[in-house]
Amino acid sequence: METVALSAPVGDKAARYRELLPQLAALLEGEPDLVANLANAAAALRECVPIASWIGFYVAKAGQLVLGPFQGKVACVRIALGKGVCGTAAAERRTLIVADVEQFPGHIACDAGSRSEIVVPILRGGEVVAVLDLDSYELAAFDEVDAAGLAPIAELLGTLAW
Ligand code: SME
Repeated sequence: METVALSAPVGDKAARYRELLPQLAALLEGEPDLVANLANAAAALRECVPIASWIGFYVAKAGQLVLGPFQGKVACVRIALGKGVCGTAAAERRTLIVADVEQFPGHIACDAGSRSEIVVPILRGGEVVAVLDLDSYELAAFDEVDAAGLAPIAELLGTLAW
């Protein structure tokens, strides 16, 4: 009897990110509403990255990052550029992987249980329009596989109507 794999094996996160990309593209296709699209993206990512305790967006507005759609506990609303992991990733326009948030000077603890984090800037036309932030209750939850998996997702999200 033929067996059909319905999903990637648990633990193979590279495959899970690869599968998510076309699913996300299909989900966003034809829908112009930014909030709806970010909300669905956060929910889809939540399914894909079970180690994350919080997944969401901070949107660049008037020189600050402002909380956008997310999945998880209530969070800090405004982050200055250059502050915390999110603000640093935005200011430096690069992905930051923080294995232990207690070792990151200026980390903003929205949830005291948070232990590690990855933040990926979302660029449109060379400008940072938002950051995608994933937090985990586990130390060193994120690595280069997450960075590589999230990069094309951030690129796709950069094409939205910011
Ligand atoms: N930890 C982040 C703040 C955002 S919350 O984790 C949702 C930071 O230092 O940028």
